[in-house]
Amino acid sequence: MIGRLNHVALVVPDLAKAAMAYRQHLGAAVSQPLALPEHGVTVVFIELPNTKIELLEPLGEDSMIKRFLEKNPSGGMHHICYEVDDIIAVRDKLKAGGARVLGDDNPKIGAHGKPVLFLHPKDFFGTLIELEQA
Ligand code: CO
Repeated sequence: MIGRLNHVALVVPDLAKAAMAYRQHLGAAVSQPLALPEHGVTVVFIELPNTKIELLEPLGEDSMIKRFLEKNPSGGMHHICYEVDDIIAVRDKLKAGGARVLGDDNPKIGAHGKPVLFLHPKDFFGTLIELEQA
């Protein structure tokens, strides 16, 4: 059902510092920061040969990732995103198997302009999973 690893998202307390560390110490190709107010994040994209890393910093008072940083002040892995062909079919199959979809069950348009869903981390061994219709 799941396909390629689309990206791994890391929450960081200081985006400029994290972007610089990936550029200078790890030699990665790092994008300019992009503010996504509708998602409550500012993001930097790191292109790797086989996938992407997204560095996320909270944007605005009601950012979903603010609480994550309160619990993990030095940052950490926030979610992992797998590609799927048909997000509605995958959702229905997961729900039939008892997995919980976060929110109102309907795919939202994600940071890449494509439909996404998030699955409850307690159903997948502590990892928040994002599914993106590629
Ligand atoms: Co994501």
